[in-house]
Order: sequence, then C-alpha cells, then structure tokens
Amino acid sequence: MDIHKLAERLAKAGQSHVIQFWDQLSPEEQGEMSLDLESMNFLEINNFFKSAMKTSGQSSQEKVDTRMEPVPRDVLGSVTRDRECLKEWEKEGLRCIAENKVAVLLLAGGQGTRLGVSFPKGMYDVGLPSHKTLFQIQAERIRKLEQLAEKQHSRKCCIPWYIMTSGRTMDMTKDFFIQHKYFGLKEENVVFFQQGMLPAMDFNGKIILEGKCKLAMAPDGNGGLYRALGTQNIVKDMETRGISYIHVYCVDNILVKVADPAFIGFCTLKGADCGAKVVEKTNPTEAVGVVCKVDGRYQVVEYSEITLATAEKRSTDGRLMFNAGNIANHFFTLTFLREIVRTHEPQLQHHVAQKKIPYVNTEGQLIKPDKPNGIKMEKFVFDIFQFAKKFVVYEVLREDEFSPLKNADSQDGKDNPTTARHALMSLHHRWILNAGGHFVDENGTHIPAIPSLKDGTDLPIKCEISPLVSYGGEGLEHLVNEKVFQPTLIINESGVHELVKNGL
Ligand code: UTP
Repeated sequence: MDIHKLAERLAKAGQSHVIQFWDQLSPEEQGEMSLDLESMNFLEINNFFKSAMKTSGQSSQEKVDTRMEPVPRDVLGSVTRDRECLKEWEKEGLRCIAENKVAVLLLAGGQGTRLGVSFPKGMYDVGLPSHKTLFQIQAERIRKLEQLAEKQHSRKCCIPWYIMTSGRTMDMTKDFFIQHKYFGLKEENVVFFQQGMLPAMDFNGKIILEGKCKLAMAPDGNGGLYRALGTQNIVKDMETRGISYIHVYCVDNILVKVADPAFIGFCTLKGADCGAKVVEKTNPTEAVGVVCKVDGRYQVVEYSEITLATAEKRSTDGRLMFNAGNIANHFFTLTFLREIVRTHEPQLQHHVAQKKIPYVNTEGQLIKPDKPNGIKMEKFVFDIFQFAKKFVVYEVLREDEFSPLKNADSQDGKDNPTTARHALMSLHHRWILNAGGHFVDENGTHIPAIPSLKDGTDLPIKCEISPLVSYGGEGLEHLVNEKVFQPTLIINESGVHELVKNGL
C-alpha cells in the first residue's frame, strides 16, 4: 500500500478529507480502507456527481407533459382485452422455454431500507401458512415452469436464474441458497453476480464518511444491472448457454410470474427487443411511473414529472390516458442487452435520490441527520427503453400479478407483509373457486366467493397452493372440483391438507 500515491489521487479529485483520520487508524483499518479506496475511480465518481446533479436540476424544473404520448394500441397486449390470443402467446413462450432459450434475471441488490430488515428481502417470510420465503416461491415457480415446458414438448429443459446482488446482500443470499439446497434447482443453473456500489456524496460533491475508515457506500441502482452484465461476464455466460430471451423482475413482488410464458410469447411473436409488463393505473394521484412515449421514444415518466392535469387526462373509453403503470418487470432479447452493455451503458445518467445519510464530523463523531444531507446516485432498469428498436407493452391484472413488499407492517399500511400475504392467498382462493372448489367456515357454513368486509379489513380465506402444484392456476380441477374445504387449506406436492381438520 502506498498512502502517498493514494493521497495524491484523492487530492487531485478534491476528496482528501476521506483520509482525514488516517493517523488514528490501526494498521488493519488502514489496510482495509486502502483496499477499498484503491479500487475506486474518484474522477469518474466526480463526473457522475456533476452530470447527475445537472440532469436532476433540469428535470425538477421542466415538466414533460406537452411532449408525452400514450402507448399506442398496436404495441399493446392485454390479458383482458386480448383474451383470445393468450393461449397462443403462452404456447409460444413455453416453446422458447423448452428450447432452453429463456433465462430469468432477478434484481435483488436493493437495501430494503423501508422494510427495515438486516437481511436480503428475498429471505423474507411474509407469514404464509407454509412460511416460504420470496426466494423459495420464485425458485418453485421456475421449477414448475420447466416441468410444464418439458411436458408439452417432451424434452428436458432448464431456465437459468441470474441473481443480481450487491456488496451488501451477496454473501447472505448465497449462503441462504446453499443452506436450502438451491430450493431443488441445479446449482449450476443459479448464477449470482454483484452490481456496483457508489459512495454517497454531500451536496457539494464530497464523499460522505460513515465511519473514520469507512465510506458511505450504496448500490448503484437496479440499472446498475447493465454495467454488471458486462463486468461480471453475464452476457458471455448467457451466450454460452444459448439464451435468446431474458425476463427481468424485482425480488419483492410476491405475485411475480417468473418467466411468464404468455408475456414471453407475446414479445417474441411481436418481434420485440424490449418489453414492459404494466398494470393499469386507475387513480391519477397514485405515485407510480407510467410507460409512455416522450419525443417519440419510450420511457417511464414519474408521477412527480407531470402536472395533475396530465395525470387526470382520460381517453374516450374512460380510462386514464397515461395508465401504463410500470412494475419493473421486463423482457429483453440478448441481442438488445448486448448492444446496451457495449454501446449505451455509459450514456445512462444516474438519478439523484436525496437522503439522510449518517456521517462522521471532523471530530470523528457519528451524526444522524434529521433532514437530507446528501445524495445517492442510481441508474434505473427502465432507462434503456429509449434504445429499443421494437418496444412493446403487456398489460396484466394487478390483483393477479403485482403486490410488492416495500414497507414494514403497520396499520392501514400499503405494500407490506400483510398486503403481500393477503394478495397471494386471495389469488389462490380464486384459483380454487375457478377449479370448482368451495369453502366452508368452522361451522360448516358456505363462505361466499366474495368475502365480506370484517372490521373494516378484507380478510382473505387462508389457503395456499405450492407453485410446484400450479404455476398460474392450471391443473387444480382433479384436486378440488366439487370439493368443500375448511381453511386453512394447503395444497402441495404431498396432497391437499386442511390444517384445522387435521388438528395441525
Ligand atoms: P426499490 O427501489 O424498491 O429498493 O427496489 P429496495 O432496496 O427494495 O427498497 P428501499 O428503497 O431501500 O426501501 C426495486 C427492486 O430493485 C432492486 C431491489 O432489490 C428490488 O428488487 N434493486 C434496487 C437492485 O437490485 N439494486 C439497487 O441498487 C436498488
């Protein structure tokens, strides 16, 4: 370690304060710190800061309303409006899966600050009867889909699972998979890789220290994916495996249809290189980004970037004009991703998130600020829509496919463990009713299909179907048709279980 060289590099970048406590550090601390610092490109970080601040200044002043156009019908597929095509799309998607052309890519590098747990979100148990974690649910959906594709095409296939973690989540995520034997998947088909980290900066572009020998580091956003795909040789790995299509999704959506064959089939039949799955935005003030065209190019426009008048605009059918709610669930061809990694990634701007970042003052004391004192810089996964040659949008039902886990439980809260658990059980309840099953309460009284409001809360019937039994509601008739169940009901590979009756 050459502290003089390091000091020179820091001075050139105007970041000398980072080693202000150097003489107070133990040799081990000095060793660790210099290891961290030597791998960092301070001039590049300064440039990221300058251009991120410049763009964020512009976007807060300028509303994009006048340049926006809604998604045209000819690039839109909808599970409700195009019901007659669903079977064909699904068949095509399953064919691609059977030919080993499809991979899934999980964005799991976030810090989950709002949920407030010290472990990766995918390890969270929302309290389902089975106590499965988000990772397990997703792994089992992959396994089931492989089986469905194999059955339809009488050939063995696999869907490789690429899992993007960050410096903060990598070790715990890997250990969890090892401990659970990859949830029945083959180890060689689960590929972990790590996204980049960036230091948090104060509003003057100075790196923030969270300890005397530690910079305040954070993952570089879910759009850090594109840099990591190149630096971690993931594109190469996909090429070696013969992958053509990639489904990218977020770890926190308990309802996610991993590698959804209908979505994949829709995108491939349309000849798309990039696709976004969306849910209908129905409330003009819902803080969700919408997919639309700006100056003729597709992008996601955040609620804060438009005026209320635009958010409230309606089409002739009565729906909101800008109603394609982005849920960070995407389709990409490998050709498109390769092009992004090779050519466009460096042009993607970091977005600025103002945060309260704990820091050490010049006396070395840790201060927890009560208002934002700096920024984190993040790229977003949807920033690449603008480069698509053929972009499509696929609209699905929120109650069937989207219930994100963002916050800790609280009364009347949103997007928390309770809402996620209820969303999954409510979906499975509907699957059972659709397959001809019925429910009775503890007195044997028939429970109506639409549960009544009880104490102001819509309590779902407790039932859970293992993804290993059904991926999307299929294959349940022989188990439930004309049968009557008393909750809690669990359907898994070993059969149909009523926990109350069995005294479990
Ligand atoms: P969010 O933006 O909701 O962030 O991520 P988060 O980390 O889950 O939660 P908060 O904001 O700290 O409370 C949406 C998805 O993007 C992933 C997350 O893991 C989640 O699947 N993500 C986010 C990354 O993979 N990397 C990042 O740097 C940020």
